[in-house]
Amino acid sequence: MDRNLALEFVRVTEAAAISSSKWMGRGDSDSADRAAVEEMRARMNSLDFEGRIVIGEGERDEAPMLYIGEKVGRGAKAGGEGGAAGLPKFDIAVDPLEGTTITSKGQPNAISVLAAAPAGRLLHAPDTYMDKIAVGPRAVGAIDLDASVKDNVHAVADKLGKAIDDMTVVILERDRHKELIEQVRKTGARIMLIGDGDVSGAIVPSLESRGIDMLMGIGGAPEGVISAAALKCLGGEIQGRLKWRNEKEKERAKDMGVGSGDLDRKLTMDDMAKGDTVLFVATGVTDGTLLKGVHFTSTGCETHSMVMRSRSGTVRFIHAIHKFHVKRK
Ligand code: FBP
Repeated sequence: MDRNLALEFVRVTEAAAISSSKWMGRGDSDSADRAAVEEMRARMNSLDFEGRIVIGEGERDEAPMLYIGEKVGRGAKAGGEGGAAGLPKFDIAVDPLEGTTITSKGQPNAISVLAAAPAGRLLHAPDTYMDKIAVGPRAVGAIDLDASVKDNVHAVADKLGKAIDDMTVVILERDRHKELIEQVRKTGARIMLIGDGDVSGAIVPSLESRGIDMLMGIGGAPEGVISAAALKCLGGEIQGRLKWRNEKEKERAKDMGVGSGDLDRKLTMDDMAKGDTVLFVATGVTDGTLLKGVHFTSTGCETHSMVMRSRSGTVRFIHAIHKFHVKRK
């Protein structure tokens, strides 16, 4: 069942990517985001499954669509609270437009992304920050968020059999990363600073051809969980730790029942995305290291997506040619 659904979900991210990409470079990040959200929600509600948003656009009082707790899919709509019998049930994590600012500026690496897993398998990450470290399959076991930057870079280089000065670490370009950047530079490793989009940054070390070895630094917590779902499918590794901006945020997270136990503990990939039925799909909005963006043609447009399931570990890249003059079904 999840096999078919993964391929259905890619239509959802394709549609969201196409809609938001029309806003590329127009300097209006809100409209780009809204276009992605509306299209993603409409497409999801036409699919035969019963879903619940666990990571989305925010809490109900601040987001009209794809808010945390919203029921999505035909099953959820048809069956009311109880849902419709026989349809697969999934918790859903979405970022309809990961990279709103970069889309508004026409810069690289914006994607539309959706992850899914059976109920209770995805961490209900609050809208706060997360310290993250991520690597691809060949460096699994080498990282430790509690170790120094130097130890981590050296351990990953050893595991990959690479010289330190051939290593590339991707880091979000933020003032808070000044010290991290200095420490990485001291090791001799190279750095790729990105303006936004650390979900792509966490995934690319798992695709050797992209030439990136690890992601380090603080980004959004919801993006951390979405990245964990992707790395679960790819066989890579991510560790994270929630970074609270204030005590109020932490209290709110406790009330929401975020995870269990110590809210400051180091989170493993399994703490964030559990089990072997994790699905992940993404479509490029602007051209990036992970995926090409939406390219409009005289007859329609072309999209580039990836579709993965943790159960099989198969990674599919789908290049779709969409013809706008053919009536949509
Ligand atoms: P948006 O899609 O909301 O623009 O977020 C993009 C992003 O760069 C994420 O990839 C990252 O996790 C987060 O924002 C970092 O947050 P901040 O911009 O506050 O440092």
